[in-house]
Amino acid sequence: MSEPIGVAVVGAGYWGPNLVRNIQASPRMRLRWLCDLDAERARAVVGPYSTVRTTSSLDDVLGDADVTAVAVATPAATHAEVALRALDAGKHLLVEKPLASSSAEGAKLVDAAEERGLVLMCDHTYCYTPAVTKIRELVHGGELGDIHYVDSVRINLGLIQRDVDVLWDLAPHDLSILDFILPPGVVPQAVSAQGADPIGAGRACVAYLTLSLTGGAIAHAHVNWLSPTKVRTTIVGGSRRTLVWDDLNPAQRLTIHDRGVDLSSAENLGDEARYDRMISYRSGDMVAPALLEREALASVMTEWADAISEGRAARTDGRAGLRVLDILEAASRSLEYYGATVPLRVDR
Ligand SMILES: NC(=O)c1ccc[n+]([C@@H]2O[C@H](COP(=O)([O-])OP(=O)(O)OC[C@H]3O[C@@H](n4cnc5c(N)ncnc54)[C@H](O)[C@@H]3O)[C@@H](O)[C@H]2O)c1
Repeated sequence: MSEPIGVAVVGAGYWGPNLVRNIQASPRMRLRWLCDLDAERARAVVGPYSTVRTTSSLDDVLGDADVTAVAVATPAATHAEVALRALDAGKHLLVEKPLASSSAEGAKLVDAAEERGLVLMCDHTYCYTPAVTKIRELVHGGELGDIHYVDSVRINLGLIQRDVDVLWDLAPHDLSILDFILPPGVVPQAVSAQGADPIGAGRACVAYLTLSLTGGAIAHAHVNWLSPTKVRTTIVGGSRRTLVWDDLNPAQRLTIHDRGVDLSSAENLGDEARYDRMISYRSGDMVAPALLEREALASVMTEWADAISEGRAARTDGRAGLRVLDILEAASRSLEYYGATVPLRVDR
């Protein structure tokens, strides 16, 4: 067993302590520093008897040769600055979602990490849940057939953020999941987004985002801070089966339905006959696959440690973070133009 990787966490607000807990639980890592502009907060998180040092200065962290890797859990607007300084100091990175506050900043991070041969992982936490891992396995393994649509709903009475709208707050989850589960060759090509701010918060609190995917499939995400009920569902419709993920139903989080609509091939039919082609409904079994119970952040830490020690890209690397930023930026543009369709880069 090699030496544990020396790690520092920057940002001890709401999410940072979750990283701290999982790094401390990992036998592969040793937490050396917790840094926050508010040093008191950092001290309170590690507690009075901890050997983990706390500081309000990033220089203390970056100047420590025993720190090999840095996890950034500061607000998104500060990710690029903190992460670039860490890359300049030769540290591997785990950056919270969204990777940065613009795709230009995200691209700078990706380039800097690649030039230096350092791991840049984006904490797309949901991709490491047993449910999403299983969904990816099923989609990539062809269990669902060709993907026809992905429909996700992420709504609840949410904290109205001061710096970002509901798209930038919640949709990174749906977009990172989509990026992770879509089979090779199926990518978003264009986005259109509509939103509303019915309470006068100064930013969209409800938004609907529609993506056209290669091959004629479609993906939709509904994100909402104003819903009195909490819903977290994603439906992945395929030509063979349809999968329903209800994240709030632990007894039956995933179900796979052998139910759907089949259309007999219209290839050899004339235009007239196309209207008469046969439609048949399948009504087969529904199965609920068993899922492991494991905290996603524990798997995030394992993947980060493996990527660092094997010198390879993480499963949700900087480029995955960048693809999400590209869509968010295009969606914001679409929002300004009342849902106009904005084409996406497909070269990331
Ligand atoms: N992966 C997930 O599921 C998930 C969930 C929640 C939040 N997040 C992400 O985590 C990040 C932090 O969110 P949060 O809700 O914890 O924010 P927060 O405001 O609660 O905490 C941020 C902390 O960072 C500190 N900070 C700010 N700038 C700093 C700097 N330059 N150096 C050191 N410390 C600095 C602040 O003092 C604060 O304590 C965001 O990017 C957010 O999107 C991810």
